Amino acid sequence: MRVLLVDLDPQGNTSTGLGIRQEARKKTSYDLIVDAADLQDVVIETRLPDVMIIPANADLSSADLDIMANEKRSYLLHDALRQPAMEIYGFDYILIDCPPALSLLTVNALVACDSVLVPLQCEFFALEGLSQLMLTIRDVRRSANPALRIEGIVLTMHDKRNKLTAQVEADARSNMGDLVMTTTIPRNVRISEAPSHALPVLQYDPSSRGAAAYRALAKEIADRRKIPSVSEA
Ligand SMILES: Nc1ncnc2c1ncn2[C@@H]1O[C@H](COP(=O)(O)OP(=O)(O)OP(=O)(O)O)[C@@H](O)[C@H]1O
Ligand SMILES: [Mg+2]
Repeated sequence: MRVLLVDLDPQGNTSTGLGIRQEARKKTSYDLIVDAADLQDVVIETRLPDVMIIPANADLSSADLDIMANEKRSYLLHDALRQPAMEIYGFDYILIDCPPALSLLTVNALVACDSVLVPLQCEFFALEGLSQLMLTIRDVRRSANPALRIEGIVLTMHDKRNKLTAQVEADARSNMGDLVMTTTIPRNVRISEAPSHALPVLQYDPSSRGAAAYRALAKEIADRRKIPSVSEA
């Protein structure tokens, strides 16, 4: 499938993790959102065929302040991604990597998207952050994006032998029910090594437990959406 990644985190980890050097980030998601840059000026190739990216750099850390006074402040990404030029690319999916905080940038992502996939680390404060996010999603549904769906909640850094993992998992499944994906992502060193090789774990070490888990997650998402996955198609 043809995929566009939108890096919306000022840390730019998605960009760095795919080997996009700072010099290559001439125009970024900051320009797209704050200055309504043309898509053709911000969308760049990655080393992966069919995967393109709108990169980010530290400019983005001032974006919240820079758009605060704009009356369309929550809709800027929504409108930017719906430029007529988007048709040319023929993307099947657009994945937006959000910043870690519930900022105006995150609201822009929630307004722009169809659905949200929530990674939940199996740690003590995880569920607290989740309830804040759920309130924000409710607010966005009541205002700018009534059709916003939750694609699923994915438990990551999962460690079967750890009591805390078991507790977070039990709490998440009893509170959030079917929203919690069956697939869990284990703590796996290959996942943490992959970005330093500028590769997704699926290519860095396809046989690792981490890669297998992300393939299973993709299949579960496809099954839930009733999309034939590659192996079945
Ligand atoms: N399942 C995993 N096993 C081991 N290491 C992992 C796993 N998932 C992520 N990591 C590592 O943990 C770090 C943080 O991961 P990641 O960037 O995905 O988290 P994040 O929640 O998006 O962080 P941030 O809030 O800073 O954006 C990275 O160094 C990554 O390589
Ligand atoms: Mg991140």
